[in-house]
Amino acid sequence: MLPSLWPAVLPIPLWTAWIRPLLAMPMICLDDFEAYAEHHLPIAVWDFYAGGADDCESRDKNVLAFKRIQLRPRVLRDVSAVDMRTTIQGTEISFPVGIAPTGIPSMAWPNAEISSARAADAMKTCYIASTYATCSAEEIAAVSSGCCWFQLYIFKRRDVTEELVQRVTSLGYKALVVTVDVPYIGKRRKDMLNNFKPPAHLKLKNFEIFKASVTDKDNNCLYKDVLDPSVSWKDIQWLRSLTGLPIILKGILTKEDAELAVRHGVQGIIVSNHGGRQLDGVQATIEVLSEIVKAVRGRVEVYLDGGIRRGTDVLKALALGAKCVFIGRPVIWGLAYEGEEGVKNILQILKAELHTAMALSGHKTLSEIDRTLVLFAKL
Ligand SMILES: Cc1cc2nc3c(=O)[nH]c(=O)nc-3n(C[C@H](O)[C@H](O)[C@H](O)COP(=O)(O)O)c2cc1C
Repeated sequence: MLPSLWPAVLPIPLWTAWIRPLLAMPMICLDDFEAYAEHHLPIAVWDFYAGGADDCESRDKNVLAFKRIQLRPRVLRDVSAVDMRTTIQGTEISFPVGIAPTGIPSMAWPNAEISSARAADAMKTCYIASTYATCSAEEIAAVSSGCCWFQLYIFKRRDVTEELVQRVTSLGYKALVVTVDVPYIGKRRKDMLNNFKPPAHLKLKNFEIFKASVTDKDNNCLYKDVLDPSVSWKDIQWLRSLTGLPIILKGILTKEDAELAVRHGVQGIIVSNHGGRQLDGVQATIEVLSEIVKAVRGRVEVYLDGGIRRGTDVLKALALGAKCVFIGRPVIWGLAYEGEEGVKNILQILKAELHTAMALSGHKTLSEIDRTLVLFAKL
């Protein structure tokens, strides 16, 4: 393993670029990218990206729960042409895997959001930019011509939130993804042990104009104290009054909240437990998906994130009613490997694996996939 020289000595692209050909590592599945990132990122940075809350139970369950679901393939169904296209919020994407929002990804690769947005665009899929991006909403919008959504946290400073919503609306983002599972930040042990702080050279660019309010004097985010824990359902109406964009709630885990979301007029739900980084001890997202899809009864689109690592995971989520899935940490691994190219590799691998999984289970189009494809294995 290389010594952790970054960020003190060498910029990331230089040392990842020269070591890779020497290692000649074949990158076949997402696990290969995870192993690469784990060995090449500084330990505290790796711990921040990999970390889950408390005992990391829900983070790990997200991945493991997919293994409990088995497939019931159909055969002799002419799968010579497989079409993975779909639409989300009215925009066509080439396959149903998008990029979830992750804060401060530029510790893995410089200007990571621009690289990720470009990769998503090249692959004709969706990119969700985080409020806590290290590139501004303007810079990201400038490189995105397709499906680009903006993820919003609601701040105590409502004027900051309001201005941000108006900015992203006028920049042409296609939807507002409101993260609802972070009234406070979950407890992540390793970040506390490492006394983790993002490097000072990385700025949360969306807030440059609000220096004193949500960031400290160096424009480092005070993300622990600035989010508004008093947020409630009435704030969805307030957001609706600010923008005509589709509103998607990210972080719904129960049928009760799914029903409330629909009643409050949102256009979509992302079934998510924040990659297990918030409340530990919650179910895996794939375990609650059916309950939510059933409650929603087709009134809004339902998406899922958490633990997607294989094309077969995507297939299982689609079978249980997700319109599209999103990936978080695998994108960080792709960035650590080779920036935009690395993220493209990750998306290409999932796309190819989904293609194979659809064909081998006898499905030519996404609309043919339904609940009869899966069964939950007994433990
Ligand atoms: C390092 C990191 C930062 C994240 N930052 C955000 C964020 O800023 N906003 C948000 O809504 N979700 C954030 N998430 C959660 C992801 O959007 C997503 O829900 C989760 O990563 C999906 O699980 P996966 O990593 O297993 O794919 C973050 C996740 C990680 C790992």
